[in-house]
Amino acid sequence: MEIVIASKKHIKYAGIICETISKSAEERGTGIAKRTPEYITTKIENGNAVIALDGEIFAGFCYIEIFSNKNYVAHSGLIVHPNYRKLGLAKKIKTKVFQYSKQKYPKAKIFGITTGLAVMKINYELGYKPVTFSELTDDPEFWKGCQTCKNYDVLQRTEQKMCLCTGMLHDPNKKEEVKNHNYDSKTWKRLKNIKQSLFLKNKSKK
Ligand SMILES: CC(C)(COP(=O)(O)OP(=O)(O)OC[C@H]1O[C@@H](n2cnc3c(N)ncnc32)[C@H](O)[C@@H]1OP(=O)(O)O)[C@@H](O)C(=O)NCCC(=O)NCCS
Repeated sequence: MEIVIASKKHIKYAGIICETISKSAEERGTGIAKRTPEYITTKIENGNAVIALDGEIFAGFCYIEIFSNKNYVAHSGLIVHPNYRKLGLAKKIKTKVFQYSKQKYPKAKIFGITTGLAVMKINYELGYKPVTFSELTDDPEFWKGCQTCKNYDVLQRTEQKMCLCTGMLHDPNKKEEVKNHNYDSKTWKRLKNIKQSLFLKNKSKK
């Protein structure tokens, strides 16, 4: 398996990347920001994406987004093709994109929002901390990405203070603390269930 910074020769994978992202979102029934092949192509052209290939076969992808004058960087569009899941590939892709971002944008805070337990686990192990949305970028360009998510009304209702996603942030200015506890998947699952029942119950009552 090859995990590399995507370059022009990988533009041909933009279609399958978008298709895999949207199919997976449909299957999970969760909200997701929509991506077009043109958008993915721009990310690849600008050297802001990581791709995993098994020979010539597409296996996984993730890209970098830059906000607030390069003060914030987000990793988006993480996808592992169903044939390559549960093999530790997402962890390898995220680690690569994380190290590359730190090198390319050393002063930027690195963040993400997600409902995915796998991503929360990986982020936590990379040193991200869960934060409120107020600690993330206030760049409207980032929040615009949520408009195509099916839970966007929740974000609007809470005036962008919270949603089903959890915000996670790595701040390069903060000294890494010694972790005295491991990632606790039960706690995260509980938090996710609480949010879902809270926000989605209100939604169905409307
Ligand atoms: C989420 C996704 C990227 C995970 O890819 P993957 O390559 O299977 O993940 P990994 O094998 O690297 O797993 C990383 C960790 O998460 C755990 N994990 C994987 N899938 C999981 C799931 N569905 N639920 C809970 N934990 C999961 C793994 O057990 C592993 O933990 P470990 O280190 O203790 O073994 C992949 O399932 C996917 O592409 N899903 C659809 C798109 C998506 O949800 N993207 C994220 C949007 S934020």
